Formats: sequence, structure tokens, C-alpha cells
Amino acid sequence: MSAKPAPTIHPIDPLLAGRWSPRAFSAQAVTAEQLNSILEAARWAPSSSNIQPWRFLVWDRFLDANAYDRAFATLVPFNQDWVRGCPVLIAACASTVNSRGEPNRTAWYDTGAAAFSLTLQAHALGLAAHQMGGFDPALLRVAFQVPAEVEIIAMIAIGHHGDVQQLNDTLREREQAPRGRLALGDIAFAGEWGKTV
Ligand SMILES: Cc1cc2nc3c(=O)[nH]c(=O)nc-3n(C[C@H](O)[C@H](O)[C@H](O)COP(=O)(O)O)c2cc1C
Repeated sequence: MSAKPAPTIHPIDPLLAGRWSPRAFSAQAVTAEQLNSILEAARWAPSSSNIQPWRFLVWDRFLDANAYDRAFATLVPFNQDWVRGCPVLIAACASTVNSRGEPNRTAWYDTGAAAFSLTLQAHALGLAAHQMGGFDPALLRVAFQVPAEVEIIAMIAIGHHGDVQQLNDTLREREQAPRGRLALGDIAFAGEWGKTV
């Protein structure tokens, strides 16, 4: 199941509607060219004062299996179950201070924008990208000597789409379940809080 377009109420660009978070990956390698494009998309994300607080730690199991395994080991068992075999893992991190050492309160927001650019670019290349909060950032920090002022926000699995039949029953069911979202009226308000657009 490599396509699961969003059943939108109003029309949106097919790139946005087509992106989703699959769990079936093939073991096929991601090329350096593809990975560079994916990271380049993140590089061109917008950020407050153009500070660009995002930092990405990248592990490719075909280039350094040992480092990949150490990053993989920080994932919660639920995620390990489906990530196993996926060729690339990326940790999306945010430097939480600006060049003067002051707190940058939009670092998380900006890094989210960069991470989303990255996932969209992966999708545009026909690849699958799946973000994860289910990992141990403290373990990852120690294992890869991430500086204290850098927040490790999410892990992202990237690879080629795989066969849904390789997933266990629970995951296969989730993979095939319809996609859902809150109603527009629940997330966007017209002029005053709670007033339907
Ligand atoms: C920050 C973040 C953390 C997430 N954590 C996990 C996770 O640990 N495991 C998982 O399987 N999916 C995870 N997801 C994927 C979401 O479940 C998914 O984006 C959501 O269900 C919407 O589905 P869609 O991306 O296919 O539209 C995460 C997504 C985001 C943005």
C-alpha cells in the first residue's frame, strides 16, 4: 500500500494530500542523491530571523551499520517492530539558543517546518518518510554526544515503500485504516476563539 491520499473536504495540492506515514518499508538503499535532496529541502525551510535552528543526525545502515544499530536501539519496541530494515534514520534536533546564547522560543516551530519539508521532499521523490516521537532522547544524546542546548525532537524513518503483508496483524490493520483529521471548525476560528470559520 504505497498510496493513501487524504480524503480532503476542500481541494489541496496532490503533494500534500499524497504524503502519509507508512510503516511498510523495503530494505532497498536510499541513494546519496535522494538523501541530499531530502536534506536540502529541510535547509530551505523558513525560520524566525533566518536562524535555521534545525540540526539533523543521519544514519544510513548501508554506510555505517554500527551507528545505525545504536540509533535504532533508542526506538521504543513498537517502532522497532516496523522500522527494522528501513535504510535511513534521521534525528530532527533543534538548537534552542541563538548566536548570543539567548533562548530561541521558535526553535521547535522552525525545526518542525524543516522536518515537514524533508518529509514532503521524500514523498515527492516517491520515498516513504515516517516521523516518530517514540524513542529515548536521553539515550540518543549520550550515544551520539548531542550538546546540552540541542533538543532532540523526533526520529524520522526514510526508505522505499514496502509490502504491507510483511507487517504484523495490528500494524497491517493500522496501515489500511482510513486517515482522519479534526474538522476544520475545530482547528480554525473566525476572529474570536471558538467561532466557526
Ligand atoms: C512528532 C511526531 C511523532 C510521531 N510519533 C510516532 C511514533 O512514535 N510512531 C508511529 O508509528 N508514528 C508516529 N507518528 C506518525 C503519526 O501517527 C501520523 O503522522 C498521524 O497518525 C497522521 O498520519 P499521516 O502522517 O499518515 O497523515 C508521529 C508523527 C509526528 C509528527
